[in-house]
Amino acid sequence: MAKIISFISRKGGTGKTTNAINLATTLYQMGKRVLLIETDTNYTLNTLRKMELFKANETKNGFEILGSQDNNVANELATIKETRQEDIIIVDSAGKTTDEGLKKLCLVSDIVIVPTSLTQNDLLVTYQTVTDLAPARDINHKLKILILPNRIHGATNIYTVRQSLKDLDAIVLPVIVPQKNLFVNYSTLEAEKEYLPIAQSILNIL
Ligand SMILES: Nc1ncnc2c1ncn2[C@@H]1O[C@H](COP(=O)(O)OP(=O)(O)OP(=O)(O)O)[C@@H](O)[C@H]1O
Ligand SMILES: [Mg+2]
Repeated sequence: MAKIISFISRKGGTGKTTNAINLATTLYQMGKRVLLIETDTNYTLNTLRKMELFKANETKNGFEILGSQDNNVANELATIKETRQEDIIIVDSAGKTTDEGLKKLCLVSDIVIVPTSLTQNDLLVTYQTVTDLAPARDINHKLKILILPNRIHGATNIYTVRQSLKDLDAIVLPVIVPQKNLFVNYSTLEAEKEYLPIAQSILNIL
């Protein structure tokens, strides 16, 4: 049965969508059967996919992108997981996900990934998020809470990253996503090559 990886955070703009799409495209290019679910009510990724297929004259394929909503997605996942053939379902949760929505996602996911930068504000919110969600592991014993250091400046060494995140009751991934200038140009069809080690480290934990 498919494993569920959900990108979550209490704060908007931490990199959920950017990392969800990069993980999905990378896993797809590695040969995994991937389903991506977006809960952004603008359906950004579905729109991007349509534009990309249009530009590529629809000759390309890709993994399926389903739309859902914050208040429904956790309930829908139970059915989706049983009726679909994919190996991995990736959920890009919404910027305005409610606390109830977050908790429900923790109960149905195998992994939740919290992307965070090292700014004081992001770190505080990440710390609170992990503290509040950690008890979900007592109910969902398979749940792993992962921290993905995102937007890490090139001059920051890995020791500083680990020190900043060491008090979190979660697994800090041994990889970082650098601060990029043109990260906005993500694709639903082409994987970013540098995402390979990140995908690999997430697969190792799955
Ligand atoms: N590693 C990075 N380097 C540079 N820019 C980044 C990086 N990660 C994310 N961004 C930028 O930060 C902004 C927010 O990222 P993204 O949309 O992925 O966050 P989000 O958590 O999905 O936001 P929301 O909560 O609104 O859904 C985007 O403009 C994105 O391009
Ligand atoms: Mg988003």
